[in-house]
Amino acid sequence: METYGLIGNPVGHSLSPLIHDTISRELSIDSEYRLFLIERDLGGALKRLYEEGAGGLNVTVPYKSEVIPYLKGVDPLALSIGAVNTLKRAKDGFIGYNTDIEGLLRAIREEGVSIRDRECLVLGAGGAARAAAFLFLREGAGGITIINRSLDKAERIASDLISSLKDKKGAGFEGEKPWPIRIEALPLSDIGKLEGKGYIAVQCTSVGLKPDIDRAVIEDPEFYKKLSFAVDAVYSPFVTRFMQLCRDNGVRAINGLSMLLYQAVYAYELWHEVLVPAAVIEKAYQALLNARPKNIILTGFMGAGKSSVGIRLAERLSCGFADTDELIVKREGKSINEIFAEKGEAYFRDLETLVVKELSEKSRFEGGMVLSVGGGLPVRESNRAYLKKIGTVVYLRAREDTLLERVKGSSDRPLLKEDMEKRLHELYNKRRGVYEDSADVVIDTDDLTLEETVLKGERIL
Ligand code: ATR
Repeated sequence: METYGLIGNPVGHSLSPLIHDTISRELSIDSEYRLFLIERDLGGALKRLYEEGAGGLNVTVPYKSEVIPYLKGVDPLALSIGAVNTLKRAKDGFIGYNTDIEGLLRAIREEGVSIRDRECLVLGAGGAARAAAFLFLREGAGGITIINRSLDKAERIASDLISSLKDKKGAGFEGEKPWPIRIEALPLSDIGKLEGKGYIAVQCTSVGLKPDIDRAVIEDPEFYKKLSFAVDAVYSPFVTRFMQLCRDNGVRAINGLSMLLYQAVYAYELWHEVLVPAAVIEKAYQALLNARPKNIILTGFMGAGKSSVGIRLAERLSCGFADTDELIVKREGKSINEIFAEKGEAYFRDLETLVVKELSEKSRFEGGMVLSVGGGLPVRESNRAYLKKIGTVVYLRAREDTLLERVKGSSDRPLLKEDMEKRLHELYNKRRGVYEDSADVVIDTDDLTLEETVLKGERIL
């Protein structure tokens, strides 16, 4: 069996093994894909992997540029970009390639978008931005603007694009298009000066990556109105704030998951000298979708907004919504008040456990779901374990005064009927720590509208 793999630091959370293993299985190719954490001595590690017979390697941060001096040869396009993400075994050493740009191209094409003669924007000036800029150049964009917080880095990419265009060798640019096309660098602070519209944009900054999910590199809606199509290189979270801002302004936006998929497909094709059929690529994409967490569980005190947020969130995520109280009411054919009055609290609590246990035993939910759980449900330790098994636990936190304001006048809250303020105070102090300790994510809802809370929830997965 031939060995392939990924070198980098860190490599632990990589989705590459899943993609490569799925393709190998579907094509009945006997090969393994391993993760190699390289902490020091990159040259020595490469030599060893070569001697051990590795057929090819992917390269990730922080080695995409650093690896170049250790290679036997580098593809001219990868050399102009200055970054290599794929190594293929050759006689006496590895040859370096960059499949990131093919990955981005294929992700854009798949959306029916053509780059030729279009105005294109690159946000950021790191390695991913550089690859995107070179892709736009090679595909004959009408204009390329590189926008970055530090202007000097954007200028460096712009001047590298211009020089590779001039000598026409480096970038793999076929020279069909008369030079000059417009290539510019713009500081982020001057984004208001951007003219024109209908841009294709690729977001390559690290802003918006988990856990920084509430930020986008540009907030101004006027900017988004100038776009026609956008790719966010980020895929975790699955929906970023940048994508939400695009969509809110009528701009189609995709995340970086298909880029990731296609760069792996190209590496696979290069290594194994095969063409991966579309049906196999689709299988690999489904495997990626299945691997990510899909269910959101909303916990919190009565009045935290679990149901109203949950219903809207499920709509936005196009998935199902369920509420443990409703599941219990349906199961018993009685209201919560009736169950409490007739059978007592202990009976109700056991029903809660039964319901979450059953949900946790379904291995996965078609298309994911949002589950709102009763306020007291997380108090039981076994219930908390079931919730963790079901999905990502999100605590909708609110201050005591906010909660009191929200639950006033509600009739279906058996534990709060008498002396609401006092009971709420007691329960609040008893349960607050439980919610906090058992949550994967906390959303403070006091100063948010329902819609703002929903948007925040959408960025969690
Ligand atoms: P890559 O992973 O693609 O190699 P990188 O080298 O980590 O990317 O670069 C991160 C990019 O995100 C840079 O363009 C960086 O801007 P600077 O060059 O000005 O540092 C950008 N970036 C990171 N944090 C940012 C922030 N808070 N605001 C704006 N841009 C930011």
